[in-house]
Amino acid sequence: EKAGYEHFMIKEIFEEPKVIKDTINPRIKDGKISLDSINLTSEDLEKIEKIYIVACGTAYHAGVAGKYLIEKLARIPVEVDVASEFRYRDPIISDKNLVIIISQSGETLDTLFALREAKKKGARVLSIVNVVGSSIARESNDVLYTWAGPEIAVASTKAYNTQLSALYLIALDFAMKKGRIDEEFYKRIIEELRNIPKAIESILENKEIIQKFASEHYNAKSIFFIGRGFDYALSMEGSLKLKEISYIHSEAYAGGELKHGTIALIEEGTLVICPMTQDDLMEKMISNIREVKARGATVLAIAKESNKQAEKAADVVFTIPDVDSLVAPIVAVTPLQLFAYYMAVQKGCDVDKPRNLAKSVTVE
Ligand code: F6R
Repeated sequence: EKAGYEHFMIKEIFEEPKVIKDTINPRIKDGKISLDSINLTSEDLEKIEKIYIVACGTAYHAGVAGKYLIEKLARIPVEVDVASEFRYRDPIISDKNLVIIISQSGETLDTLFALREAKKKGARVLSIVNVVGSSIARESNDVLYTWAGPEIAVASTKAYNTQLSALYLIALDFAMKKGRIDEEFYKRIIEELRNIPKAIESILENKEIIQKFASEHYNAKSIFFIGRGFDYALSMEGSLKLKEISYIHSEAYAGGELKHGTIALIEEGTLVICPMTQDDLMEKMISNIREVKARGATVLAIAKESNKQAEKAADVVFTIPDVDSLVAPIVAVTPLQLFAYYMAVQKGCDVDKPRNLAKSVTVE
């Protein structure tokens, strides 16, 4: 069943190019995005004053990237929340809101109850779900399936890449319908999305670089992830992945926020992982790297091939192909997943079945 792979997790990471293709390609017809049977017209979108994205764990981290993306492209305000907070805070929702629910299993109880709360208050619910016919899929007004296939490893990997892919399709479609982007940009980003599977294949070919880095650092007691913009969302996901399967303490911080307290924890030899894929935030990120290096940190950067600044600033750079910064998150998460995986393997952890965790959380 593992098809020659040592664990389901690594098998599933290697499936990413295919499942991203399966999620994106059928939704592009004659150069235009077509979201299955979801019929949100321009008029419907005009009525939406705010979007809420609600999910748990890894799906929530996809939502954080989704917020940045929808706000950037479609210029609709987006609030993103974890389901267990959202459902108990009497959220201000009406028929002027669209609620986007994200769930791999479609059975996470807090997420399901958040969906019911949103529907009760009159919002339209669009869910991004992997398991066909699951509770969340059945109870939503609209469903956009991620075609990630079954995910067996407890740590979610390929599902996250496809959740992001679905959010790109939604954001581009909304942006076009609202007249916020022009045809040329729309076409160019669709082309970029189509090229993502190839970019991930090249990352997978270079996996030994991460494997080697992990073999040198698996004794770390605490690891920090810092990033700005989309890279902040990626940092959260990289940190969660590492914690859940390798049991190494880790925190994710927005690059600019570290200096407001947490930088006190950086000392000689502390490992700091920096995804830095956003061209417009590069200068700021470089100064954040300097701040931690000045306190003795060892820095691993995840940066685009052509990024010469990253090479100078970080101790080690794992390069990703030169994709547009806008779509970089779908590509740059893969090295972070590989990093968590190899750290856990080095430590001899039960990668596919980490302690205290279940694949589908059906308790509140
Ligand atoms: C992390 C992980 C969990 C899930 C979360 C939501 O690797 O798997 O954080 O992402 O429990 O699960 P779904 O997406 O099934 O609602």
